[in-house]
Amino acid sequence: MKVLITGGAGYIGSHTAVELLESGYDIVIVDDFSNSSPEAIENIKKITNKDFSFYKCDINSKDALSAVFSHEKIEAVIHFAAYKAVGESCRLPIKYYSNNISGTINLLDVMNEYGCKKIVFSSSATVYGEPEENPMTEDFPLHPFNPYGTTKYIIEEILRDLYRADNEWGISILRYFNPIGAHHSGLIGERPNGIPNNIMPYICLVAKKKLEKLSVFGNDYPTRDGTGVRDYIHVVDLAKGHLKALEYIADKGICDSINLGTGCGYSVLELVNAFSRVNNVEVPYVITERRPGDLAEYYADPSKAEKVLGWKAELGIEDMVKSSWKFISNQQF
Ligand code: UD1
Repeated sequence: MKVLITGGAGYIGSHTAVELLESGYDIVIVDDFSNSSPEAIENIKKITNKDFSFYKCDINSKDALSAVFSHEKIEAVIHFAAYKAVGESCRLPIKYYSNNISGTINLLDVMNEYGCKKIVFSSSATVYGEPEENPMTEDFPLHPFNPYGTTKYIIEEILRDLYRADNEWGISILRYFNPIGAHHSGLIGERPNGIPNNIMPYICLVAKKKLEKLSVFGNDYPTRDGTGVRDYIHVVDLAKGHLKALEYIADKGICDSINLGTGCGYSVLELVNAFSRVNNVEVPYVITERRPGDLAEYYADPSKAEKVLGWKAELGIEDMVKSSWKFISNQQF
């Protein structure tokens, strides 16, 4: 089966590309390198020792996308290409609505034109907004509260409408919790672009002495040690979930939303301590004010993924912090 991966040079896309190639799929990657680099493409080839077609292409250009579909016999798409910085989305909402939503509409239109009706969509647990309780199941109400999250929610709605209109479509909507970690080779991972917003890249740059100290955003949350609790999931586990999601929709019309998380929450301090202990490096930190818009605690109920996909996260916090550090230690800044 030939699978198109949009945003395949990015953090989750590159790990998914590796898993697909290692499972015998043919892949085609499109990426505009707006938040990634050609090196990731080379490293996917190095890890797997396999070749594939790559197109430097912005999914906002329908002509460019059509050209890819006319050259390649694409049977399914895994769609990652999107902007993802929450803070920036609050400052520049139009940039986010335009790129994430228009790009996806272009993609769906071209897929329809070429009779390709299988898509795995990269959504986020952020579509739930603040949960009334934990763990979070897929039938929780959807209340995104920043433009980035709203783009994911709107695309989910578009996909549900598409399936209502034509139930030949096979659509898997994957709601990720907090992906961290990197491939065990140390060749691909999350390379921060400027000062990171997310916690793991920040911890890594502090450990590498490129940043002075981590600010822990608040220690007065109603959690076990007062710091925010999240469901961190290893990016390699997450990537494997995409393969299962592809198999799930391969031979049927369906539109289903599925959480990809571990079901287990760690606090900021637990994560920092695990990182220091496992990697034997210091991570100086200071407690600061809460970050506006942050939630105290959320984690997934991952039981639907196990039931319908036969997928379960396997890698623990130690693998996550170890592989993140291995990747960043190899990078020049
Ligand atoms: C954020 C996004 C979410 C996105 C996810 C993964 C928001 C509101 N949500 O989630 O939409 O899907 O990233 O990309 O931004 N923290 C610190 N110091 C730091 C950075 C973070 O203490 O320098 C804390 C946060 O307060 C939080 C935890 O670490 O408790 C995780 O933060 P982060 O990695 O930014 O992810 P989320 O905010 O959960």
